[in-house]
Amino acid sequence: MSDAITAEGLVKRYGEVTALDGLSFSVPQGTVLALLGPNGAGKTTAVRVLTTLLPPDGGRATVAGCDVTRDARRLRSYIGLSGQYAAVDEHLTGAENLEMVGRLYHLGVKRSKARARELLERFDLTGAADRPVKGYSGGMRRRIDLAGALVADPPVLFLDEPTTGLDPRARAALWDTISELVAGGSTLLLTTQYMEEADRLADQIMVVDHGRAIARGTADELKDQVGGNRIELTVTGAAELETARRTLAWVAVGAMRTVPESLRITVPVTGGPEALREVLGRLADEGVRVRDAGLRRPTLDDVYLTLTGRQAPGAEEQVQEAAR
Ligand SMILES: Nc1ncnc2c1ncn2[C@@H]1O[C@H](COP(=O)(O)OP(=O)(O)OP(=O)(O)O)[C@@H](O)[C@H]1O
Ligand SMILES: [Mg+2]
Repeated sequence: MSDAITAEGLVKRYGEVTALDGLSFSVPQGTVLALLGPNGAGKTTAVRVLTTLLPPDGGRATVAGCDVTRDARRLRSYIGLSGQYAAVDEHLTGAENLEMVGRLYHLGVKRSKARARELLERFDLTGAADRPVKGYSGGMRRRIDLAGALVADPPVLFLDEPTTGLDPRARAALWDTISELVAGGSTLLLTTQYMEEADRLADQIMVVDHGRAIARGTADELKDQVGGNRIELTVTGAAELETARRTLAWVAVGAMRTVPESLRITVPVTGGPEALREVLGRLADEGVRVRDAGLRRPTLDDVYLTLTGRQAPGAEEQVQEAAR
């Protein structure tokens, strides 16, 4: 299988800030790579370099066999892009926006109109098709922008945080649409802050931070890489939470997570059921009453927390570093 996207040691600086610090990866044709990372990690910069909107300061990259600097014009004919901030003409209607994209891609008037109607239906925008985009809600703008990226049926798609700002129903619908596209052979590079999105859509996930890849693999591989198990337990009263945290700090092999409102603590541990037995024994010795306790594998949220030292955005839990 050949690679639809390749990046080798990409570097991009904005003055003092190094947004991309030697980023390398490849995306085999027909697969999905998710770039996952906190704010400022360099995700949008990577997308902008790969879509020829920004020249790299170092390294090289190709998309559909075209070099991003030497072959930019040809490259652009193979890609669809939906940026982090919707790029639509406010004064045109939804249908007109899509038809305009069709004509930019030389689809012809008739074909552009047909394609626009088809996409409006697919993105559940038929009812709003003839209204100016300036009256659209945030979620509707998001969808019309995504539809725009698909007008020319490009073989390689770049979607920068495609579902940020969408409600859960719209997000699920979009995931289905994206899955269909990829099943049809498209290659997709997607950036996201949602673990669930990466888990659901991506063949490979690359976790980036400070412009560097800090981990890469399938969701399962990343979970294995982070390793260990998690003990999740709930205590019976707020007063016991602190004692429990102090006791658990002795067995924690990484950052503990505490949700004070639900009296829940999550602790990374080495070992399996024997670790759980030991924890329960220690807590009993300290007089902490435990409502429920269990052992589980790491989730992608744990991967993210372990690798970046930051909580995954969107998770409402409060992170507290394990006491040393
Ligand atoms: N036009 C710019 N001028 C100066 N600095 C910039 C510019 N664009 C991005 N940066 C900086 O480059 C770094 C990477 O930014 P980038 O937008 O690629 O991150 P991101 O991963 O997309 O973040 P987010 O999740 O917030 O969208 C950040 O430190 C950012 O402040
Ligand atoms: Mg971004």
